[in-house]
Amino acid sequence: MPVLAQRQIEGFDENGFVFPVEALTESEAAGLRDTVLQHLADCRRRGGARAALAFGPKVHLLTQWAHRLVRHPALLEIAQSMLGPDLLVWGTQIFVKEPGGTTDLAWHQDALTYDLDSEGRPAAFRVWLALTPTTVENGTMRFAAGTHRDGIRTHRRTPGLKGMLRGDEAVLDESEFVRHDVVLRPGQCSLHNMLVVHGSGLNRTEDTRVAFAIDYLAPSVRPSRGQDSALLVQGEDTHGHFVLERGPQGDLDDEALALCSDAVRLRMARLQAAEEERKKSGALTHG
Ligand code: NI
Repeated sequence: MPVLAQRQIEGFDENGFVFPVEALTESEAAGLRDTVLQHLADCRRRGGARAALAFGPKVHLLTQWAHRLVRHPALLEIAQSMLGPDLLVWGTQIFVKEPGGTTDLAWHQDALTYDLDSEGRPAAFRVWLALTPTTVENGTMRFAAGTHRDGIRTHRRTPGLKGMLRGDEAVLDESEFVRHDVVLRPGQCSLHNMLVVHGSGLNRTEDTRVAFAIDYLAPSVRPSRGQDSALLVQGEDTHGHFVLERGPQGDLDDEALALCSDAVRLRMARLQAAEEERKKSGALTHG
């Protein structure tokens, strides 16, 4: 059973991230990669809301395999060593980079758009689980070490280059930070603080790159405003800051779709309100 070593937790506190962390076996990861690609093909074929929700932000409400994955004993063990015994899952997201793709992600902080409050030691983090090898060549994620210490930076909304998806870009002087490329074997993962600045590159290889992200929270975390939901995956929630989600009984069936759609609608309404506020406050500029 993998448990985080003390030096890995210290590394997380120091840099805002830690990797590689051993989580799944290579054969578990290979099976999951096939499951994820089949899931995406099924969602595309069926279209509508299933296609819209296929990649996230709550795949664990749409399919039983994702609901099982977030409760995988190795991942719970990792999450417990970071956050303690009581654990919520707030989000799950599939990241696929096709060969010769044109998507990269600009430097950004997840905390900009998550709008979650926590006190003291980080009570939330993201697991980014490799289901294929991740390399510099296939556009793996990269971190700017130590950038989690300076709070939320100003982000610029820049138009995508040549149709590339870049998203909001954190204002950052790259020369001031050491850049770490997240090179992982299938089944290994990285963990990151929601404040650390990160991005990803283009896939310049012949192979599809697949990763699965899970946001674990301690129940002491609260939405900064409005109502939101999360899935209790271990222990108990004595705080009650989130509406607790029910797991799906089937894969992509009408009931799962309703559970997922309702939860995503709640989250989006809240985050849209937060975005309006950011625009007013100047935390997001257009340039
Ligand atoms: Ni991100």
